[in-house]
Amino acid sequence: MFAGALIMMFVTSLKLSGLVVLAIILVVPTLVFFGRKVRSLSRLAQDTLAGSAALAQEALGAVKDVQANNQQSRIAKSFAIATQTAFQAACERTRARAVLTAVIIFVATGSVVVVLWLGAKDVMAGNISGGALGQFVLYSAFAAGALGSLSEVWGEVQLAAGAAERLAELQETKPDIVAPASPKALPQPSPGSVELENVSFSYPSRPDDQALNNVSFKVSKGETVAIVGPSGAGKSTIFGLIPRFYDPQDGKVLVDGVDVKLADPDAVRERIAAVPQDPVVFSTSVLENIRFGRPDASEDEVDAAIRAARVDEFISTLPAGINEQVGERGVKLSGGQRQRIAIARAILRNAPILLLDEATSALDAESEQYVQVALENLMTDRTTLVIAHRLATVRNADRIIVIDAGQIVAEGSHQSLIKETDGLYARLAKLQFSDG
Ligand SMILES: Nc1ncnc2c1ncn2[C@@H]1O[C@H](COP(=O)(O)OP(=O)(O)OP(=O)(O)O)[C@@H](O)[C@H]1O
Ligand SMILES: [Mg+2]
Repeated sequence: MFAGALIMMFVTSLKLSGLVVLAIILVVPTLVFFGRKVRSLSRLAQDTLAGSAALAQEALGAVKDVQANNQQSRIAKSFAIATQTAFQAACERTRARAVLTAVIIFVATGSVVVVLWLGAKDVMAGNISGGALGQFVLYSAFAAGALGSLSEVWGEVQLAAGAAERLAELQETKPDIVAPASPKALPQPSPGSVELENVSFSYPSRPDDQALNNVSFKVSKGETVAIVGPSGAGKSTIFGLIPRFYDPQDGKVLVDGVDVKLADPDAVRERIAAVPQDPVVFSTSVLENIRFGRPDASEDEVDAAIRAARVDEFISTLPAGINEQVGERGVKLSGGQRQRIAIARAILRNAPILLLDEATSALDAESEQYVQVALENLMTDRTTLVIAHRLATVRNADRIIVIDAGQIVAEGSHQSLIKETDGLYARLAKLQFSDG
């Protein structure tokens, strides 16, 4: 409509059309300036709104901890501040857009008035007919209407562009861990070996802090190796490097003899079953949570995993049994129940390499003993790495690696380590076993 009306305006009167075009040209910089402003303010409004939503989500997710620490009013206050900031950003965005619209309406109606005035003088001077002026005014009304709609759309596009910038940024984030162009195949069948070669590693968020310092060890097929050491020593960090959640800055991590950097991460992870220190349970049924380990497992395999991990013991007490919905992050289950689900999941995975990070720490002594037996059955002819604070659970390991402040400080069997009386292991053991 704008293009058509403009052409007809030029056909009707060159002089008046020139005037209108001049007005449009004058207004373009203002349009661009406020357009940009709307865009950046829209981005700000989106960011601040996301901030306040994140705050609310975190606080509501941990509502018990907030209450236990009596922090309700402080959290409510920071939420109010965050929301107020988001509101102000939205107000400013709306203000900028209002200015944009006002400028356009002013220029459009202003030029119509000027055109009418000049046109009327031309009609009186006899340069154009009254009809031609009427025609021109009609066309310019069409053109102004179309321009109004266009500017409306322009404003909306800028608004959306500001909001979309955030999404675009997220979409363009490149993961650090990517599969190589031509990944090296892992040997078939899996030899089930894990090896760290002079591995030094710092978390990307803490580049100056070495979480692991020149760590080397090898675990062969069927071996059970325990990693013990004080809290924060770097035990879980080792478990993060084996499935390649991070790349070490120095040294190599080998799974089945292949550097994990050269292999397809999916293929590496396929060979690993892990029970993490803080197992995650999804907001679905107990059954679906266990099947998460291997969705195509048969009924019998699922049943066997359920029995081995002693999940059957507590599902009978749930109203809907195995189909009970466990709530967001498994809030409707106890810590030990969540842990048993994670163990069942790992058993079901049936992978040659097993990583157990404090896998039975939340179980009572009886269940722990039972699950321990199941895990030991699972460990036979599998390569297992176990992290445990309770040394009783690692006593029977083939080998124990003692790690402190990111470094291996000792390695050997329970019997040999306990003899180094000034060693860290003997010290820890002395505190745990009264018989020394
Ligand atoms: N995602 C992370 N980003 C930055 N630093 C981290 C991260 N995870 C752990 N760390 C740091 O790395 C060090 C080793 O942590 P790690 O989780 O390996 O300890 P751990 O031996 O498993 O301890 P625990 O027995 O308490 O589980 C700690 O100093 C910890 O603060
Ligand atoms: Mg840990």
